[in-house]
Amino acid sequence: MAAMFTRLVSTIFGAGVGFAVAAVPAYAADDIEAKAQACAACHGQNGVPTEPKTIPIIWGQEKSYLVKQMRDYRNGERDNPIMSPIAKDLRQEDIRKIAAYFAAKSWPARQAAAATASPPNGLAQCQPCHQPNFEGGPPAPRLAGLSYEYLVASMRSFAADERTNNGDMPKFMQALTDSERDAMARYLSAL
Ligand code: HEC
Ligand code: HEC
Repeated sequence: MAAMFTRLVSTIFGAGVGFAVAAVPAYAADDIEAKAQACAACHGQNGVPTEPKTIPIIWGQEKSYLVKQMRDYRNGERDNPIMSPIAKDLRQEDIRKIAAYFAAKSWPARQAAAATASPPNGLAQCQPCHQPNFEGGPPAPRLAGLSYEYLVASMRSFAADERTNNGDMPKFMQALTDSERDAMARYLSAL
């Protein structure tokens, strides 16, 4: 009886421990995958946002930028009625993992062939930070291929001091006219 009990206990615990050890890393990955699924409702199942005019691409965006934006939405430095509550619902310790998950994806391929216009004046001053091809890097996010509407709106919100989560961008955007920003947004969206 005692022997059988011991066997039973060791079977249960043996199986239990084995299961827990095997399942922990898988569970953590699945957990981030499941959280990322909630983002797909707007940011897109395949990286193309459901409403690109107002929702930016996050697949393949700079990791450090994604981390900072989620933190900024959480702490109110960047305010948006849709993203702020979503970011506040995230667990602090998940933010880096979610950012790494999306940064590792490929930026979605363009549907239409890019227009071959020459770059508007003034765009060269953006390249040290946004990189020569505007595909982003450690100092600043990718701009190439975001929608014209999202780009023009974010540039305008910096210029209007509505988006204040960066010290430099408002000054750069205030130095440009509406039509200069418009031409830049058009060019960048076609890259
Ligand atoms: C209901 C729609 C919706 C859902 C769901 C959603 N987002 Fe967003 N997201 C938006 C919109 C709209 C914006 C643009 C907000 C703005 O203009 O500040 C945005 C912006 C962002 C940005 C800033 C990107 C940039 O280029 O500045 C990040 C990062 C982001 N979302 C991450 C996420 C993550 C991670 C999730 C899932 C946990 C998520 N979002 C879920 C709608 C959504
Ligand atoms: C000194 C570096 C620097 C220069 C120069 C610069 N930017 Fe930026 N830009 C940034 C940083 C950093 C951010 C991200 C700010 C944040 O944390 O939200 C940014 C954000 C942006 C965004 C928002 C992207 C998004 O996904 O929401 C746009 C659009 C943009 N910049 C356009 C431009 C344009 C156009 C120029 C040139 C006229 C320019 N920037 C020059 C550093 C720079």
